[in-house]
Amino acid sequence: MTGDRRGSQLLGLGHFQPERIMTNEELSLLVDTNDEWITSRTGIRTRHIASETDTVTSMAIEAGRMALADAGVAATDVDLVIVTSVTSHDRSPSSAGRVAVGLGMAGPGIFDLSAACPGFEYALGVADMAIRAGSATTALVIGSEKLSEFTDYTDRSTCILTADGAGAFVLGATDRPTVGPTVWGSVPHLLDGVRIDGAPGEPRYFAQEGRSVFRWAITEAAGHAERAVTAAGLTLADIEILVSHQANLRIIEPLAEALHLTDKIVITDIVESGNTSAASVPLGLSKAWHRGDIPADAPALLFGFGGGFAYAGLVVHTPARA
Ligand SMILES: CC(C)(COP(=O)(O)OP(=O)(O)OC[C@H]1O[C@@H](n2cnc3c(N)ncnc32)[C@H](O)[C@@H]1OP(=O)(O)O)[C@@H](O)C(=O)NCCC(=O)NCCS
Repeated sequence: MTGDRRGSQLLGLGHFQPERIMTNEELSLLVDTNDEWITSRTGIRTRHIASETDTVTSMAIEAGRMALADAGVAATDVDLVIVTSVTSHDRSPSSAGRVAVGLGMAGPGIFDLSAACPGFEYALGVADMAIRAGSATTALVIGSEKLSEFTDYTDRSTCILTADGAGAFVLGATDRPTVGPTVWGSVPHLLDGVRIDGAPGEPRYFAQEGRSVFRWAITEAAGHAERAVTAAGLTLADIEILVSHQANLRIIEPLAEALHLTDKIVITDIVESGNTSAASVPLGLSKAWHRGDIPADAPALLFGFGGGFAYAGLVVHTPARA
């Protein structure tokens, strides 16, 4: 490692969503709900649901492959892979190890990180620090979730929210850093506010105290997100894109208002993709990037919150070329 690398930059983005799209009408055949309630309370119109053969690992591999192609980086040049998920099937080998082998890498550092919905922002922070410290030069960071396996399709309060998918970033070393630093923290009184319930050996399901989490999100989240902007040496006026955790459109919109970002690009992928936990931020940003909806080298404020109860935010410039 040379001593002159000062940080990291985002080189490429990728994503994967399962083919199957589940509508609100379909859910209304399973539980006592309706399109009007779901769209007015959450903004969600559709969500993608994994097939039996779509796994956390297989979705992560596809998102990672797309991000590497976007970055123009060979898999063999990656020396760190981090996968973040709360729905991985295996404890060991790690999903990161399976991704590394699946993409034909040459023995990078591999580990999984568990921080639920803000997991991707935590993982980006760790990858950026690894690059800053000289422990890595090129990192693949992936959020991948198969929440449908942890969803009780008899519970109308949760089954309308959860969905599956993956998003990935490639970070590379640079002497002109445009990633982070990451601001992170947790909220002790909401420890069990978002969780996966279930005794050992029994089915485990996503559960949450929706109202308490909602209240925290619309009163506290903006202050923490703004701290991430300040930590990057910027002001809110510099931010061109807001990508907050895609949990509820009724949280995303007030957050954009509180941050005075309503006239900027606000990612609202929740509408078509539902809540994909650790995948939601990279998935939403990558879809917009590959549609050509967002500019190159633009400061994006990423902010995640949820299970634990943890939150994390950071500013990342989109890749320098279109
Ligand atoms: C989950 C959430 C959408 C629920 O919305 P809400 O307005 O708080 O709704 P409530 O749970 O209080 O339920 C209100 C009523 O609607 C009913 N209801 C709940 N789900 C329903 C559904 N799918 N269809 C119809 N009615 C439903 C409830 O039974 C309740 O009825 P009642 O008043 O007769 O008791 C909202 O609380 C939320 O988004 N919270 C934040 C979630 C979050 O950010 N999580 C972060 C980590 S993933």
